[in-house]
Amino acid sequence: MGFSRAIKIAPSILAADFANFGAECRAVEDQGADWVHVDVMDGHFVPNITFGPATCAAIRPHIRGIMDVHLMIAPVDPYIEGFAKAGADIISAHIEAGPHIHRTLQAIRASGAKAGLAINPGTGLDGVENLLDMIDLVCVMTVNPGFGGQKFIDMSDKVRRLRALIGARPIHIEIDGGITPETAPLMARAGADVLVAGSAVFKGGSAADAAAYGANIRTIRTAAEAAIGTTV
Ligand code: DX5
Ligand code: ZN
Repeated sequence: MGFSRAIKIAPSILAADFANFGAECRAVEDQGADWVHVDVMDGHFVPNITFGPATCAAIRPHIRGIMDVHLMIAPVDPYIEGFAKAGADIISAHIEAGPHIHRTLQAIRASGAKAGLAINPGTGLDGVENLLDMIDLVCVMTVNPGFGGQKFIDMSDKVRRLRALIGARPIHIEIDGGITPETAPLMARAGADVLVAGSAVFKGGSAADAAAYGANIRTIRTAAEAAIGTTV
């Protein structure tokens, strides 16, 4: 995949029908999603449990494009190989998940996946600076991770500073949590290019009747692009 800062919409299947992941992934891609965002939670790093590498491997054949795996787990390192083998294109680990994020990012790249660094709302950019040469994406959390459908926490200032820090490096800025047509423009304007959205994409439709997914994706994308004056 060539690097681009065009706005990308990444539906989070946390808000999909868990008994129908294959069809849900196909439906959002057919309806215009750029990436599919897969939230892995362990009930330890975050207060909720979703699923692991076996489910990711089962979902993989149903995603034509990018499978973007967000690990909300600690420890991370013992599971990286498993998620890479499951076919993750991008694996993001939290800077807060352990004392050796540098080693974790090395291991992700060594596995063949692109490396993402996720940062919680309470975490600053100090630790990110030393990692810029080892990452392909920074995932800025705009909710405290663990659940879909939470209220957006405005991180515009952090995203602006991160965008300046990244400069010309090919590193995506992804925003995760509370993205809607109202909040997407703020994040696009601050410098984000990947917008994760769970509830705002999956509301009002189903895999069998997916037109609402398409309308939701278009509304978010249009709002974000209008804010930065592009229609890429
Ligand atoms: C939160 C997850 C998010 C979540 C976003 O812990 O990482 O990806 O699914 O859901 P919404 O868009 O509903 O806030
Ligand atoms: Zn996520």
